[in-house]
Amino acid sequence: GTTGPARIAVIAGDGIGLEVVPAAIRCIDAVREVHGVELEWRELDWGSDYYRANGRMMPADGLDLLARHDAIFLGAVGDPSIPDTETLWGLLIPIRRRFEQYVNLRPARSLPGIPSVLRRDDPIDLMIVRENSEGEYSEIGGRYGRGLPSEAAMQETVFTRTGIARVARFAADLASTRSGRVTSATKSNGIIHTMPFWDEVVEQTLEGYPAVQLRSILVDALAAALVLRPWTFDVLVASNLLGDILSDLASAVTGSIGVAPSANLNPERKHPSMFEPVHGSAPDIAGKGIANPIGQIWSGAMMLEHLGHPRAAAHLVTAFEASLASGVMTGDLGGTATTEEFVVSVLTNIDALA
Ligand code: NAI
Ligand code: MG
Repeated sequence: GTTGPARIAVIAGDGIGLEVVPAAIRCIDAVREVHGVELEWRELDWGSDYYRANGRMMPADGLDLLARHDAIFLGAVGDPSIPDTETLWGLLIPIRRRFEQYVNLRPARSLPGIPSVLRRDDPIDLMIVRENSEGEYSEIGGRYGRGLPSEAAMQETVFTRTGIARVARFAADLASTRSGRVTSATKSNGIIHTMPFWDEVVEQTLEGYPAVQLRSILVDALAAALVLRPWTFDVLVASNLLGDILSDLASAVTGSIGVAPSANLNPERKHPSMFEPVHGSAPDIAGKGIANPIGQIWSGAMMLEHLGHPRAAAHLVTAFEASLASGVMTGDLGGTATTEEFVVSVLTNIDALA
């Protein structure tokens, strides 16, 4: 919506985030040059080191600062010496909620040279649209009688008509540009209040899309089908919890967690959207220079697409696919390339494909 170069807030964060974010920025800068895309990177040193120095993951006015950007490019947060609840609720969740990033979009697709774990290897090309702001992840509930035999906990699921309809619209719009098919994950046989409501609102919303075909499938059967015949699905829409589980399942079926990208979107573009790989800070391999940068690079391609640069985005994806196809891959995919060697290969392919 603004003029001039898009302003990108960069939070590399912790662990391998500090390695894969600079790697991805080099690749994005290379395609940007080819396509004349202007971006301004603003690097922020937030995360666990910042927490150790300041007692918080980001400054008190951190969200206001982020609000003045067009997108957020995040690596990962998480440190073995700090509770995950601090890192998650101190940075990631406040960003997703304040900026109404109600869609978590996760592609899961077969990539060249990466064998699927499945016996049959038909190409998989899924788009998982996870509701990212309500549903099962509510703060309503409580716990009492700690330590007693009568101890109890309860947590309420909250679905709103607005919340369901907007994520269903996003899925239908996306399907309109693809196969025209949407599969909705449900559990309305067992969860008798919220899930029938989800089904009704999804169905009513999709009535506005006569060219899009909707199928609702019980999530247990859907989980099985995603392992047995994932190539038969295209766009999946699911609540916060069901989408979280199905998207990890789908990325595991296609390959490694190191390649999976994600976008936390505010589709109205009233607020910045956030682009981050699915993986975490991987403390077990951090600092060794061997992390797979694909999840971060692919998230960068999703960001370019969101900012209105589909050709630069496609160029970036084609370049890392060409690296994989030529057998250059990091250890998690069974290869021997370091992060640096993989990036050099992607940069070479960006030039070659220009
Ligand atoms: P993780 O994704 O960091 O690592 C899981 C396994 O996958 C590890 O063996 C790791 O070495 C491997 N792996 C992950 N990404 C890789 C890559 N790019 N290249 C090669 N191998 C890769 O998940 P984990 O270990 O459960 O969590 C570690 C920390 O990250 C925790 O503090 C957790 O809370 C945090 N985390 C943060 C997320 C975020 O920032 N959005 C998401 C998930 C976890
Ligand atoms: Mg998850």
